Amino acid sequence: MTYDLIVHGGRAVLPAGVRQVDIGVRGSKIAAIGDLTNEPAATTVDATAKLVFPGFIDPHTHMGIPIKDTWSADDFASGSRSAAFGGTTTILDFTVQAPGQSLRAALDERIGRAQGKSHIDFGVHVNITDQPLKWLHEIPTLVEAGFNSFKVFTTYKEAGMMLPWPSFAPILAEIDEAGGFLMVHAEEDDIVTTLTARHQTAGHTAPIFHARSRSAEAEAHAVERAATIAGDVGARLYIVHLSSKAGLEAALHARTHGVDIVIETCPQYLLLNESVYLKPNGHRWITTPALRMQEDVNALWLAVENGDIDTIGTDHCPFTTAQKDRYDGAFDQTPNGIPGVENRFPLLYSYGVASGRLSLTRLVDLLSTNVARVFGIDHRKGSLSVGLDADIVVWDPTGETVVSAENQHGNADWTPYAGMVQRGSLVATIQRGRILVQNGQWRGDAIFGDLITTQ
Ligand code: URP
Ligand code: ZN
Ligand code: ZN
Repeated sequence: MTYDLIVHGGRAVLPAGVRQVDIGVRGSKIAAIGDLTNEPAATTVDATAKLVFPGFIDPHTHMGIPIKDTWSADDFASGSRSAAFGGTTTILDFTVQAPGQSLRAALDERIGRAQGKSHIDFGVHVNITDQPLKWLHEIPTLVEAGFNSFKVFTTYKEAGMMLPWPSFAPILAEIDEAGGFLMVHAEEDDIVTTLTARHQTAGHTAPIFHARSRSAEAEAHAVERAATIAGDVGARLYIVHLSSKAGLEAALHARTHGVDIVIETCPQYLLLNESVYLKPNGHRWITTPALRMQEDVNALWLAVENGDIDTIGTDHCPFTTAQKDRYDGAFDQTPNGIPGVENRFPLLYSYGVASGRLSLTRLVDLLSTNVARVFGIDHRKGSLSVGLDADIVVWDPTGETVVSAENQHGNADWTPYAGMVQRGSLVATIQRGRILVQNGQWRGDAIFGDLITTQ
């Protein structure tokens, strides 16, 4: 039997460990893993002396969303292409619920923005931001339709997106009852607004006051409060973009007391600290939650290493320098969000695996396997296994390049990671059997991304 594609001779990160094997693909699925030396194939990718990974899944992106008075700069077309250049083959994005819009209508709108544009597969989390209790009745139908992840904000009151705490328990209970789970952006809004007002009154507009206003204490407080309610309800809670040691301690304390809590962090909280706000153009690094102190970075790394943190998403929400620079660097006006969808795997490989902090298997767990399991898409994605989608990344672990704006592929004309050293380079990103990127060249000839649900 012939194969459509064989990835030959690489060291593959399999569920059973790292093995030198060939991977045979038929159509869009992995058809065989083993010695396929004499098997014919329409296309072969030579992975000799290379590493082979399952396609990476980014659980947290924002393609084309409104923030303050502008929109994040990547749409699904540019953002998914950029993602593929970093080995990501699936993104999980979020709905944007307009005032008065039902959850289903917001979901359909977001799917409409992605379908026919995204080069890679995509899933969608359902944000609940408008009149939350009014839309509770939609939740069981959405879960049944394959959308099991919902998200709320405990902040962004000024943008009309905050879930008031009294609504937290009923929403959590309804979602849990329906078989879904709740993701939470945890920052205590009262703390954030008080600190922000204090700095505004004092005339403090410099970027560092973003970190001073959106404090680690605000994160920890909201994590503790959300986790207490989740414990009372007996529901799973997923903390998005955890950024601080205090927030981590609050989440782990809850876990120790039996709360089912899944923790996500992001590359920016592992690779950067708040000192970037003091740089020229420091306002460009304004993202929420704020970047923290080195002590926080160190605590998060330990948790990534020892398994306390479950997933790493990017919170990709890019703005161009023109968008970022429009407000003279004022911390409270600059649109919040940074690019990163292309950098997650290359930089975590470089600063995690190549520097000896993470095993290959742990990296795959954080960026693919755990994400697929948590979001219920492991029947399609998350490992190199026969029968799953042929999402495959081939990586050359030799050589070094320096990250710069010029070698990025998204719409942002800058990168928060400029100057960092990438150890290794991408040989190929293969999505459902099709080569999207090979040796630095885009080979995705047609739009191929599809909606991924739990079914
Ligand atoms: O600043 C950020 N990260 N913007 C995107 C929205 C969010 O809170 O994740
Ligand atoms: Zn957020
Ligand atoms: Zn986000």
